[in-house]
Amino acid sequence: MKVRAPGRVNIIGEHTDYNDGFVLPFAIDRYIEVEAKPSSRFILTSKLYGQTLEVVKHRRTGNWTDYIMGVVWALEESGYRVEPFEMVVDSTLPTGAGLSSSAALEVASAVAIIKMMGYKIDPMDLVHLCVKAEREFVGVRCGIMDQFTAVFAKKDHAILLDTMTLKYEYVPLNLDDHEFVLIDSNVKHELSASEYNRRRQECEMVLKSLNKKSFRELSENDLASLDPILRRRAKHVISENKRVLKMVDALKKGNMFLSGCFLYESHASLRDLYEVSCEEIDFIVGFLKGRVGIIGARIVGGGFGGSVLVLARKGYIQFSFEELSKEYKKYFKREIKMLHVNSSDGVLKLIAPESSSVI
Ligand code: GLA
Repeated sequence: MKVRAPGRVNIIGEHTDYNDGFVLPFAIDRYIEVEAKPSSRFILTSKLYGQTLEVVKHRRTGNWTDYIMGVVWALEESGYRVEPFEMVVDSTLPTGAGLSSSAALEVASAVAIIKMMGYKIDPMDLVHLCVKAEREFVGVRCGIMDQFTAVFAKKDHAILLDTMTLKYEYVPLNLDDHEFVLIDSNVKHELSASEYNRRRQECEMVLKSLNKKSFRELSENDLASLDPILRRRAKHVISENKRVLKMVDALKKGNMFLSGCFLYESHASLRDLYEVSCEEIDFIVGFLKGRVGIIGARIVGGGFGGSVLVLARKGYIQFSFEELSKEYKKYFKREIKMLHVNSSDGVLKLIAPESSSVI
């Protein structure tokens, strides 16, 4: 059986999901697709990398197979027995573009294994299991947003998720005569996993220094005693959370101008306070800002490269993109790519459109 899980774009709410904050992602119509069948050994093939590898259960390799074997490990930790299988992975989702191909691979693999073994799983348990695989097996201490979106997304909607309570609301994506477009910087800095974990640690230090349990107990007025780096991190989280709620309000009212302002503000905060942007991405956002028909732009995902999300009037992006590509190539000797995406359902709806309680 083939199972596919989508990538995601987070409209706003970056680096808030491991800080009890709000996020506003939607799934995109780019997928990781896997097919599994029982075998006597674990043999994994990636069509993208043109590689077939034999792996050993519960042993890390440091490459793409860890996402799949992390899921195997997490399943067994939760009491499911997993017999050896062959799995082929195919993809229409760019990797390293900040679009969460790792969560899509985890979710698709987990569902394919569960189906192959004849098990059933509650969708929320599936999300937690994939997060556990990434945190404890792969070693990136991610939040819950990506796996949650790959499972629960609904076409034509974004999800406003409160990562503290796990309550969520589908927000219709009525963009009128506007569109979201992605520009892939074609940059992925080596540091992203270690810097990501470091940001998490810094946020934990903020809470510890201020003797608080959650960022939700904090306001900008409480930060004066922090050292400057921690103060910047905390300011980002607190202000970004407010922006998510303001963005939902603006989208519901169809106020595209304000939505665009929040994207630019979010980018500035990620660049200056959370310090997860990079020169190439800042160049793209800076180039686009103020150009005709461009309403807003910001870095998406974990940072240190990846993609820029652009909100533009329909039909306006092409012209700016052509000029931007030339300039970008001149400065950075790299190509950028534009990605037009639509919203998509998550795995839950893709695999069982009628029932939403079990996979
Ligand atoms: C990565 C993580 C997410 C989230 C984003 C930043 O995509 O997997 O959990 O923290 O970075 O918002």
